[in-house]
Amino acid sequence: MNTAIIVAAGSGSRFGADRPKQFLELAGKPIIARTVLIFEASPMIDAIVVVASADFLEETEAVLAKEHLTKLRAVVAGGETRSESVHAGLSAVPEGTEIVAVHDGVRPLVSEDEIERTIRAAAEYGAACLTAQMTDTVKVVDGAYVVGTLDRRELRRALTPQVFSYEVLKETYNEAVLGEAVTDECFLVEESGKKVLSVAGSPRNIKITTPLDLVIAEALFAAGTEV
Ligand code: C5P
Repeated sequence: MNTAIIVAAGSGSRFGADRPKQFLELAGKPIIARTVLIFEASPMIDAIVVVASADFLEETEAVLAKEHLTKLRAVVAGGETRSESVHAGLSAVPEGTEIVAVHDGVRPLVSEDEIERTIRAAAEYGAACLTAQMTDTVKVVDGAYVVGTLDRRELRRALTPQVFSYEVLKETYNEAVLGEAVTDECFLVEESGKKVLSVAGSPRNIKITTPLDLVIAEALFAAGTEV
């Protein structure tokens, strides 16, 4: 069984709205509903667990109830950090889960093809991360000064889903020390010495973090999948 853990327990403080950004609408539907619907439609996904902040658990359930989802198994409370929220989601996956796809609730433009290719890679190699190429040159700064330039040919941006065999993720979390510095699950798996396959994703699969991202997401949604 393949289970998606969709994490949406962030406060959205960088967005500056009065409620978490996952409840803002994208093309007339809450962002979290748009994201969950893509996983609901994916033939590669059997079950979905949504992680919401304890303060917005009921609102999340109410938003999702409107979509008549058949794969939603649980809406659970998250933690202080993203990795703690994933851990909470992992504790709620249905028995028999062999593959876990962790996805940000605020990435509503992920494609079914990206989900499928990342799951297939993880099923074969144990762990896979959807990534996108860098188009900018990346600088290292120290205070006011540029002190270095990274070789962008070997850099990728980490997108989601990040997909793992259940055993790999469970084992990693059992051994991991969680904290603010852990911003994705692949980091934990990399640190444990296991290989993570990089799967080419689309720059269209943006994370809605700021008001600018929402404007871009509306435009991308309207333009359709050809962009
Ligand atoms: O903070 P960041 O932008 O990395 O958040 C990515 C995703 O992780 C978002 O969907 C957010 O809701 C989720 N998250 C979470 N629990 C936290 C922090 C973030 O589920 N404590």
